[in-house]
Amino acid sequence: MRIGIYPGSFDPLTYGHLDIIERATKICDRLIVGILVNSAKKSLFSLEERTECLEHCCRVYDTVEVVSFSGLLVDFCRENQINCIIRGLRAVSDFEYEITLASINRRLAADVETLFLMARDENLFVSSSLVKEVATYNGDISTLVPPYVASRIRQTFSV
Ligand code: PNS
Repeated sequence: MRIGIYPGSFDPLTYGHLDIIERATKICDRLIVGILVNSAKKSLFSLEERTECLEHCCRVYDTVEVVSFSGLLVDFCRENQINCIIRGLRAVSDFEYEITLASINRRLAADVETLFLMARDENLFVSSSLVKEVATYNGDISTLVPPYVASRIRQTFSV
């Protein structure tokens, strides 16, 4: 049984993330979407809000479970019998960070494999930080995030 984790900050969830989730469901028997709890990092959405957005947008996938985790990703993998880490790759700029992460994770847990899925062309430059920047200046985010997330972002920026 292949149990995968798609870890990230998801602040906020984008169409790029959703595409990777959908494609990962075809590779993994069970897919855990793991939201990193990182109190040191200032985020737009709370952990609860990010969980809500992910649960809402992933409700169509019956093999997907949304959880939060803290500490080392590989420790969470060991505790939950997770044998593969899924990461999305966009432009070349992602590569250096991702190869470092995959390398250190393999050093810490050689039995947990990292699988990379290339972003679709339309998502090559979609990122959570770009979404936040466009939203800050009231730009159109409808092609970047699902409608549920867009409405949560609009609520957040209108207060
Ligand atoms: O969406 P992000 O912010 O690029 O995701 C990064 C994430 C959550 C995959 C990474 O920061 C992570 O795995 N953090 C947990 C701590 C850890 O295991 N770090 C790698 C070894 S130092």
